[in-house]
Amino acid sequence: PIPEVKAPEGPKGVINVPQRLLMGPGPANANPRVLAAQCLPLLGHMHPPFFKIMDEIQAGLRYLFQTESKYTCLMSGTGHAGMEACISNLLEPGETFVVGDKGIWGLRVADIGERFGAKVVHLKKDAGHTFSYDELKEAVEKHKPAALFLCQGDSSTGVHQNLSGLGELCHKNGTLLIIDTVCTLGGVPFFADAWGIDAMYSGSQKVIGAPPGASPLFFSQRAVDKLKSRKTKPISFCWDLNLVGDYWGWYNSRSYHHTGMVSTWYAMREALAVIGEDGLENLWEKHQRLHNELWAGLKEMGLEPFVEDPAERLVTVNCIKVPPGVDWKAVIDYAMDTYNLEIWGGLGQTVGKIWRVGIMGYNATPGNVELVLAAFREALKKQGKLPDRPFLT
Ligand code: GLV
Repeated sequence: PIPEVKAPEGPKGVINVPQRLLMGPGPANANPRVLAAQCLPLLGHMHPPFFKIMDEIQAGLRYLFQTESKYTCLMSGTGHAGMEACISNLLEPGETFVVGDKGIWGLRVADIGERFGAKVVHLKKDAGHTFSYDELKEAVEKHKPAALFLCQGDSSTGVHQNLSGLGELCHKNGTLLIIDTVCTLGGVPFFADAWGIDAMYSGSQKVIGAPPGASPLFFSQRAVDKLKSRKTKPISFCWDLNLVGDYWGWYNSRSYHHTGMVSTWYAMREALAVIGEDGLENLWEKHQRLHNELWAGLKEMGLEPFVEDPAERLVTVNCIKVPPGVDWKAVIDYAMDTYNLEIWGGLGQTVGKIWRVGIMGYNATPGNVELVLAAFREALKKQGKLPDRPFLT
């Protein structure tokens, strides 16, 4: 007998989503032009018009990464997909992997490296600080690792790692340089070729201004040479760049690996078009300027940056110290309840110690910065924690 069909429990009716301004560490709001692209008719993932869109995406990525490399693509997934792809393709079991850990992302990469069998050397830095060139030089020369990992901008601690000179250092020591740019790409300078980067992954949902679900990825020729000379197959089928790369035309052919995320890639195509129209230098200048404006306002309220050295401070994800006696959660709730505005707290070791404000992509506007400042001002005033200054009363 056929079992009785259970009654549907949901969903029921038309989906209802509140309008929110996402000024936390991400996702940021996407440009409506980018969202609209997702409503276009679906194409088959092996249809020539879709391959043309993939080619356009690769051209847009080459500009965004500042590279001539043909090895660019979108991994189907969030930044974690790119993270696992870099690690699982570029490290073989037993190889040494030096991981710069200055926040949750280094910690996570070290964990993933171990899962894929690498011998992880954990290079640790206190939250709020970055590695000096000399510290990294010492580690690379001592361990001669197969790869060195660094996060350009750690969203959990708000630090910006200087990458200059590291490509040359790595290449001299037979090491591949892997960089996470999830919360920085498009908002701060990045030069894949000029800086000698070997592999880089990012996320669609931050400065790039598209919905979550695509991880822009770059490999240098050296990285592809390593992939092609592996003694073992990459452990993950999903992230195997022999196969994914072949879908993206890296090796002068195209074959099916998985179903490309058609609508998400339309959105990425559109976001990359917007970035090209805006121009990278303008975007970098805008993010820096709005970061300065945010901090001018926060400092007037007596708030201080978590990252003390301005040279190490990230402009896209701004980490603000929670002053003693202030209820950080109440500030976040005030912003959401009053303005539908997301400001977020810490992550990992910074939970309870900081607020995080993202100035990213489509959301990077003077008006949004003003609203964030107003929310902080009012929420602190409500707690009786605003310094007594006549111009603020
Ligand atoms: C996610 O990327 C976060 O920083 O919270």
